[in-house]
Amino acid sequence: MRPTKNICCIGAGYVGGPTMSVIAQKNPSIKVTCVDLNESRIKAWNNENLDNLPIYEPGLAEVVAEARGRNLFFSTDVDKAIDEADMIFISVNTPTKTYGEGKGMAADLKYIELCARQIARVATNDKIIVEKSTLPVRTAEAVKSILDHTGNGVNFQILSNPEFLAEGTAIQDLQNADRVLIGGENTEDGKLAMQELVNIYASWLPKDRILTTNVWSSELSKLVANAFLAQRVSSINAISELCEVTEADVQEVAKAIGKDSRIGPKFLNASVGFGGSCFQKDILNLVYISKSLGLNEVADYWEQVIIMNDHQKNRFARKIVKTLYNTVADKKIAFLGWAFKKDTNDTRESAAIYIAEKLLHEQANITIYDPKVKEHQIFSDLEYLGTLDPEIIKQRVRVVNDPYLAMDQAHAIAILTEWDEFITYDWRRVYDKMVKPAFVFDGRGITDGLNLEKYDFQVFRLGKSITTNKG
Ligand SMILES: NC(=O)c1ccc[n+]([C@@H]2O[C@H](COP(=O)([O-])OP(=O)(O)OC[C@H]3O[C@@H](n4cnc5c(N)ncnc54)[C@H](O)[C@@H]3O)[C@@H](O)[C@H]2O)c1
Repeated sequence: MRPTKNICCIGAGYVGGPTMSVIAQKNPSIKVTCVDLNESRIKAWNNENLDNLPIYEPGLAEVVAEARGRNLFFSTDVDKAIDEADMIFISVNTPTKTYGEGKGMAADLKYIELCARQIARVATNDKIIVEKSTLPVRTAEAVKSILDHTGNGVNFQILSNPEFLAEGTAIQDLQNADRVLIGGENTEDGKLAMQELVNIYASWLPKDRILTTNVWSSELSKLVANAFLAQRVSSINAISELCEVTEADVQEVAKAIGKDSRIGPKFLNASVGFGGSCFQKDILNLVYISKSLGLNEVADYWEQVIIMNDHQKNRFARKIVKTLYNTVADKKIAFLGWAFKKDTNDTRESAAIYIAEKLLHEQANITIYDPKVKEHQIFSDLEYLGTLDPEIIKQRVRVVNDPYLAMDQAHAIAILTEWDEFITYDWRRVYDKMVKPAFVFDGRGITDGLNLEKYDFQVFRLGKSITTNKG
């Protein structure tokens, strides 16, 4: 097997872009080309002004500045990059199927299959294919079958190398990964291929953090990791509702249980619900696989994590309506945050979308401010739901660049992303400009230290009783 000198990554999205940037940064002698069909995305990756990169991640611009043009390239010429590469990462999207068998649950593998067919058509020498996308267990078998039966007689080794980065901390997660997982075939060639990929990561990570397993364990581990993480969010969210009716405080409970080293402190923040492109889709995928294998109890167990998450979003929206005297019709609700979490411009499956949907059905007017999400994205998220009349969206939704403008004359504020800047605002000024009584619905637990009650705000925090300055 020849040493890897040339890498291609198909898919320049939230995973492909940052991952290849860091691989290129840490392996200056390897040429890394990230390709995508989406021309405007590639144009943005090549933009001189690093503020215009298509993805916002702290630290990403610096890494791109260091490697781009040296050994990191972004291109739409997929065939050329495939042809030149020794190793090809597949990092395309694997959304939940929206049609046919498995609709609403199974992963849609059409983009993966298209990649495999394209590689088979173009490749004229042996290549290592790395599954970076999150895939159902045993997908590598399908990819191998396509490559072996439709290719030009060249040898392909398929590795699974799922990505564990979290958006918002992607660069830090890549540069200092807890672990890298590489699954491969237990054959001579399989082991050599795994070693090639180990070498790439070993240029910056200690060897003991690079785990090698069989392909199926690697594919399944990614789904299981996301299921466990999402389960923790749903678990603490379930407890938040219990706290609200028992006068316990969810943050105190989280602290008390998180100190137990068997439980640990992370992922115990009660919130308006998890979002992002991965948790829901990966759990649904796990549920679908379990059901297909006749493991109904296993499927039901994991499905409950999603049911709880939907419940949390619904009850947050209901709480706003109920608190505002059972009607939000024609009232102005200010949204602080639209991204599914802080430090990213990704809005996929963001709780804010669903809260907005519910409030628009109640005829509220919504003004949105998010420091990194663009107006066209917000409108496209709402239209994509397909449940709202586009005219209503246009009439009732406004996106502004100034948070104070968003909150001016609002009846209520809903905090839906935990952006740090929100706690730095002049809350006295905000209070003075609002319709009274001025309500804050904190869906992210970030206002605790602010004592908003002292300005006379009425504050609802998930997992706590509603508070006013009278206690
Ligand atoms: N976003 C995350 O936090 C995260 C974390 C870990 C794993 N993952 C997994 O990584 C994969 C990619 O996720 P993402 O968030 O980067 O998706 P994304 O939608 O941001 O990016 C995927 C890109 O692939 C491109 N693409 C699709 N088919 C193509 C083809 N045939 N040729 C060239 N380009 C093609 C699309 O145009 C798109 O730009 C998914 O399987 C996801 O589950 C995502």
